[in-house]
Amino acid sequence: MKEVKIETTLYVFNSIEEVPNDVINLMRQAAKARKKAYAPYSKFNVGAALLLENGEVITGNNQENASYPSGLCAERTAIYYAGSQFPGIKILKMVITAGSQNTPTNSPIPPCGACRQAISEYEVNQKTPIEIYFMGETGKVIKSNSLANLLPLVFDKSVL
Ligand code: THU
Repeated sequence: MKEVKIETTLYVFNSIEEVPNDVINLMRQAAKARKKAYAPYSKFNVGAALLLENGEVITGNNQENASYPSGLCAERTAIYYAGSQFPGIKILKMVITAGSQNTPTNSPIPPCGACRQAISEYEVNQKTPIEIYFMGETGKVIKSNSLANLLPLVFDKSVL
């Protein structure tokens, strides 16, 4: 038996002002989307913005449902829209912002496991990394240089 350690690298920015300008723009668009989320049950709004290599910006937010599991996260709403409207166009960056309707959310909120798996499909297919930035409403921003960094031991088409 041998122990295997898996390491990952993330970058932490103290506030949105520290991130590059194009990312600030995406964060603003993600925040706009977050405010339009349909989250009457969890009261937890999430917004996502994607930058595609053709310059298009795609946004999405979480859409909940009275039948709870029928709802969808912001990241998947955005990435499936990108995949449906711009098939084959690479995704360069994804930014995510989340905030509770009840209390201020000042710490970075990472994408859930199901969204990591969904984003991974696109990263694997396009063969170039997708930069992921995530934050609360304010406060620190965390950057990962790729989705793979957030999902070690990924299940992808190579195993099928
Ligand atoms: N949510 C997202 O939109 N993205 C995530 O990565 C995690 C969770 C949504 C789903 C649900 O509408 C609410 O946040 C609370 O879980």
